Amino acid sequence: MPIRKAQITSFLASTSDAAEVIRKSVDKDEVIHVVSHLDADGLSAAGIIGKSLYRLNGTFRIQIERWIDERLVNEIANEQPPLTIFTDLGSGYLDLLNEKLSDRRLLILDHHQPVGEASSTFTQVNPHLHGIDGSCDLSGAGVAYLVAKAIDRENVDLAPNAVVGALGDLQDKYAQRKLGGLNEVVVDDAVKAGDLELEIDLLLFGRETRPIHKALTYITNPFIPGISGEEDRCYAFLNDLGIKVKTKDERWRTLKNLSEDEKKKLFSALAEHLASKNFPNEVALGLIGNVYTLTREEPWTPLRNAREFTVLLNATGRLGKAGLGVAICIGDRGVALERANNVLKDYRRTITDCLSWLAKHPDRTEELSSIHVVRGGGPINDKMIGALSSILSTGSSSPEKPIIAYSKVTGEDMVKISARTRPLLSAKSLDLGAALRIAAEKYSGRGGGHNVAAGAHVPVRNLESFIEYVNKLIKKQLDET
Ligand code: C5P
Ligand code: ZN
Repeated sequence: MPIRKAQITSFLASTSDAAEVIRKSVDKDEVIHVVSHLDADGLSAAGIIGKSLYRLNGTFRIQIERWIDERLVNEIANEQPPLTIFTDLGSGYLDLLNEKLSDRRLLILDHHQPVGEASSTFTQVNPHLHGIDGSCDLSGAGVAYLVAKAIDRENVDLAPNAVVGALGDLQDKYAQRKLGGLNEVVVDDAVKAGDLELEIDLLLFGRETRPIHKALTYITNPFIPGISGEEDRCYAFLNDLGIKVKTKDERWRTLKNLSEDEKKKLFSALAEHLASKNFPNEVALGLIGNVYTLTREEPWTPLRNAREFTVLLNATGRLGKAGLGVAICIGDRGVALERANNVLKDYRRTITDCLSWLAKHPDRTEELSSIHVVRGGGPINDKMIGALSSILSTGSSSPEKPIIAYSKVTGEDMVKISARTRPLLSAKSLDLGAALRIAAEKYSGRGGGHNVAAGAHVPVRNLESFIEYVNKLIKKQLDET
């Protein structure tokens, strides 16, 4: 549904209210506590708010969390920071925040579906409250960016970070994998400032700098068996197509060096390969789309391509280096980038390890009447489960069923669950966020998220009942459409 002008106006008015809360707090010299979400969108949002506070000469600290739970809320209740800003977190957990923090000043900058009412001491900025779909039309980083812009127009140079956040949350749901809705306002700001360029091309990473066979190796969305992570086979794949990997003077060719005919040939071959592995047509079509290039980043870094930037941020978050991700978002380069590049390498290796482990343990994947269950173990820990379920959902052989993957949380009696589905299913009014929230609450846990990507954590003892109940809830949702 197109967004009406009045909806944008009322949403932007709420960003001005939030900007005012921040300005006042800085004027009073308060130490501001920022709590953000551990994913590419959350880290980008933290970077945007962090940079805006820095520019205001504010005093602040940033904490990155996987979810809101009693422990976190108790910590804040005990510490009593004068102002806490939640970014990419909060709206889904208003009951918990109301229960323990209703006497505190909170600023919630989120795009998750609000559950419950916010206490009158909270200021909440959320597109859903204005009839704008936060699951695809604005990210958490997008909300943070529009607040930053309301603080000072100079902050428009942070728009690229919000583009990264939106892509990290897979909001490129419009034709040709474009960002739409309010995300378009963010994209336009970045383009006008000369910080971003859009082009339609094959969506490979390192299109200007990476040897083409390596660029193929790095495709993970979708994860293509026989291509992703398999450098030798990518090399052979190109050879078989008669696409030369080197120039006459022995230099590696990149995607940019390929002729239109060679690109067409490559795309057709990839599409054929995907079809042979039973992927539906739309997956191949998703290999072409809008490339978002951050023009101020060095061409040979993973930050140049906004989609690759999201992979780098997810890598830092999932491998326990979220601080590094935030530093990069705030603008650190040099040594920080070098370290992040190493984390990215480790992350790619870990994903390959997880997938090989799963291939060697077929008993860990089970098909129920309405869902696929993936039982983690080995290298698949609670930090990797989200990434893995995203990858598996793009390559699922029966895409009509969502993937529910889980892993035990290290050192706790809890399991972390990640649920993903292809957007195709969401058209059938599937809502994984609601299903996981309801099932987790029934079994002494917590959960929520978006219609196509959601998560939960529940006590180990309730895991099987939880899964069974999710299966039932999904069946009910699908039957009702
Ligand atoms: O952790 P994961 O990447 O699977 O989370 C997917 C989505 O579900 C995120 O948007 C996250 O905020 C949400 N989620 C939630 N409650 C949890 C875990 C995840 O709302 N306990
Ligand atoms: Zn988000």
